[in-house]
Amino acid sequence: MTAAGSDNLILVGFMGVGKSSVGRRLSHLLGRPFVDADEWIEELAGRDIPSIFSEEGEAAFRDYETKVARRIASRRGLVVATGGGMLGRAENVRLLRSTGTLICLTADPERILERTRPWSSRPLLAGAENPLQTVRALLAQRASQYNQAELSVDTTERTIEEVAEELCAVFSCR
Ligand code: S3P
Repeated sequence: MTAAGSDNLILVGFMGVGKSSVGRRLSHLLGRPFVDADEWIEELAGRDIPSIFSEEGEAAFRDYETKVARRIASRRGLVVATGGGMLGRAENVRLLRSTGTLICLTADPERILERTRPWSSRPLLAGAENPLQTVRALLAQRASQYNQAELSVDTTERTIEEVAEELCAVFSCR
């Protein structure tokens, strides 16, 4: 790892891999502030994510995501959980990497499906005819995005605490 001590630690990866839960725990362990990018988007938009998708559309949601990436990049020393599509724009990747280290959490598609149920809060899964197929297709489509992370941790068979402690051991000595 080449992250500097003040770099933001940015958790990326698909829905249901544990980014927000691990991020909260890791921020506590490291004594760093925690930011949930989706919560910042909801604040900016003044509505929740399903409402942004249904009332403004996915493209508007992706624009909010870039605004939030810009805001994150202007800060230092954070632990950040991003939404699963955050790396879809090269600009977001460039912004987040300018002041941060990308850490990808992964999980098997079946586990992702279990953890994201009920899907009402995830517009990309809520409307799907076959959610497992949708998860697999999106994972394949996004593989090259998530591969840009400096570090990857499989959370399928692991607890939030185990993953957070592993990451804490990697980053606490910086
Ligand atoms: C999305 C993931 C969601 C949220 C939005 C879009 C995606 O975040 O940003 O529903 O495109 O994968 P989580 O990964 O926290 O579920």
